[in-house]
Amino acid sequence: MSARQKVCVLPGDGIGIEVTEAVLPLFDTLNLPIDLSFGDIGWSCWQKEGNCIPDNTWKLISASNATLLGAITSKPLREAEAELSPALRGTGRVYVSPVIQLRQKLGLYANVRPVTDVLGDDRYRFSVIRENTEGLYAGLDFASIPPGFEAVLAERERNGAAWTREGPDDATMSVRLQTRAGLTRLFRFAFEHAREQGFDRVTLADKPNVLRYSGAFARDILESVAADYPDIHSNIDNVDAVALWMVRRPERFGVIVAENMFGDILSDLGAGVMGGLGLAPSANIGAQGAYFEPVHGSAPAYAGQNRANPSAMFLTVALLLDHLGHGQAARAIRNAVSEVARSDQRTYDLGGSASTREVAAAILQHSLDWAERLDGATAHRAPPAVKQGAHA
Ligand code: NAI
Ligand code: MG
Repeated sequence: MSARQKVCVLPGDGIGIEVTEAVLPLFDTLNLPIDLSFGDIGWSCWQKEGNCIPDNTWKLISASNATLLGAITSKPLREAEAELSPALRGTGRVYVSPVIQLRQKLGLYANVRPVTDVLGDDRYRFSVIRENTEGLYAGLDFASIPPGFEAVLAERERNGAAWTREGPDDATMSVRLQTRAGLTRLFRFAFEHAREQGFDRVTLADKPNVLRYSGAFARDILESVAADYPDIHSNIDNVDAVALWMVRRPERFGVIVAENMFGDILSDLGAGVMGGLGLAPSANIGAQGAYFEPVHGSAPAYAGQNRANPSAMFLTVALLLDHLGHGQAARAIRNAVSEVARSDQRTYDLGGSASTREVAAAILQHSLDWAERLDGATAHRAPPAVKQGAHA
């Protein structure tokens, strides 16, 4: 018998709490060898403690094999200060989005967004993998032209580049940082993901005809990594064309990989292709850990109403289970989510009137049925129980 695994569960804020509660019975229902621990994260921690990820939560995360996150509320600077408990106001605390903190501290360089035809007839299935740590969001974003670049710009001007600027503060500059190590690990991850998930194609979405040197750099690295995966076809497509074809012919893609900003945009487009935020799961994976969360946020307008679609969170658990080596359970959940999404038991966002808990109960029952169908020997037979709102 292999050792039991540990998953840290962080419900967070708003509908994050409800969708997390909705999926928890899965772990018992599917009799998974996983122990859960629960931690606090998010806006209420910020308000109370001036720290949106308490130390104890970091300890739970580092003692776990993976983390499951509901959703978190983030607000702009001024609101962050105003909503702090009075004793903490004016003490110089700075709100840094927990999602960013997790990505940075755990070195989570790959953001994976599977896009599947949940509502239709399985016409398409692909994954968008976004680089999370460098690229255009590396933080090299300047309010004026940094001194070292003046000479480069003067040279450009001499060569006839059409741009004008009145003074040194009348221009900004953002740099797309790409490192050999960063791209190598990203591309390797993309090919490994393709193999694991049975995709025969990896497409780099870039803009090599405009970003000529950084594009050529990325291409060389892609080609050298691709040489280790002769079974998988790879190519480079212009990112704008990828956006068009994701909508028009999503079935032509396998894995789409992209630098941070291009990937950010394409991954939200992916959620749109699927049919909305209520359906889209995500994973953030790196060398020191992994966390899994639905793409949607805390949707404050729907919090506590038992109306949010729990499907994205069920698909998120499926990703987590894939990562921990429970592929069969993951498949059972995916099949169950599709069946329920295609039935008349839908939440409001898919045109129905079923509640979070009703849809969750249906998905749990179908997951159990599928698990038994896929592997009768290991499935647990207890009927699924939907935990009634301890938080709601
Ligand atoms: P949101 O994703 O929370 O909600 C946008 C709209 O999408 C909702 O009003 C609702 O109509 C719909 N929606 C989202 N999830 C749904 C679900 N499961 N079922 C049915 N409908 C759903 O994005 P919004 O309103 O921009 O942000 C709200 C808060 O969430 C903000 O504080 C924001 O910072 C935070 N946020 C957190 C994220 C995270 O935890 N990774 C991601 C995005 C936003
Ligand atoms: Mg985004």
